[in-house]
Amino acid sequence: MKKKQYLCALIWIIMSVHTQSSRMTTARLRQMKKEGEKISMLTSYDFTLASLVDEAGVDVLLVGDSASNVVCGNQYTLPITVDEMIFLTRGVVRAAKHALVVADMPFGSYQISEEDGVRNAIKMIKESGCDAVKIEGCEDVLPTIRHIIQAGIPVCGHLGLTPQSVNQFGGYGLRAKEKAEAEKLLHDAKLLDEAGCFCLVLEKIPADLAAKVTAAVSCPVIGIGAGNGTDGQVLVLHDMLGLNHGFKPKFLRHFAHLADEVKAAVGEYINAVKDSSFPNSEESY
Ligand code: KIV
Repeated sequence: MKKKQYLCALIWIIMSVHTQSSRMTTARLRQMKKEGEKISMLTSYDFTLASLVDEAGVDVLLVGDSASNVVCGNQYTLPITVDEMIFLTRGVVRAAKHALVVADMPFGSYQISEEDGVRNAIKMIKESGCDAVKIEGCEDVLPTIRHIIQAGIPVCGHLGLTPQSVNQFGGYGLRAKEKAEAEKLLHDAKLLDEAGCFCLVLEKIPADLAAKVTAAVSCPVIGIGAGNGTDGQVLVLHDMLGLNHGFKPKFLRHFAHLADEVKAAVGEYINAVKDSSFPNSEESY
């Protein structure tokens, strides 16, 4: 082989190894569980913030259907559609250089029939470019989850407080406090694990139950309001950045107070416009 061809081949090999090893995969997440390395997951709904979160090194970007609340201002997650989720997910996928991108399948996109669920999962993968989908619940949707996995799409399960069932639960309270519901949740987690889910999200359940589930399944378990005994944690980005003053459940930690900073910056801008100090000569052409 000529020297130039050899060099090109070498560069190609180095680049492809680097690209493969720098992108998070479902296999790597399983490995992290085995090695006891905690997994960080955060929601993201747009290119700009997702770029920052990805650059900071988060393992998984979740385009949650919480976008319905956070982005669209709805009271519940129920109204957001497949096409709206795809629109938001595209921006996050473009931003993700390292993290695995998981998108929520919204309410109504997988409950009607197995065929409908598989079609919508394929549509989300094809049109948004996400790596995997997340689905709430177990019993009623297990055959659909199995079919989606058989179609080659990684599925993240979601048990405990499943916000798409808010009207059935009658609110966002702690789930699985009672023995019967806790036993059912453990059983469901095992079923989802056996069905091949690459990961499970457990939302707002007692910490000891979440730890028990984590030890009982082979796939990584990510908690939100589920204590410290899971394989990783997820929070809604806008909540942990303190962008949402009105929402402070017990499980939420504010890692920043951006609402105050945004308001202060906007206040300064308004004053500068009103007193004509913005733009100055250096900011003008
Ligand atoms: O939609 C969402 O943001 C979620 C997380 C809270 C896990 O499902």
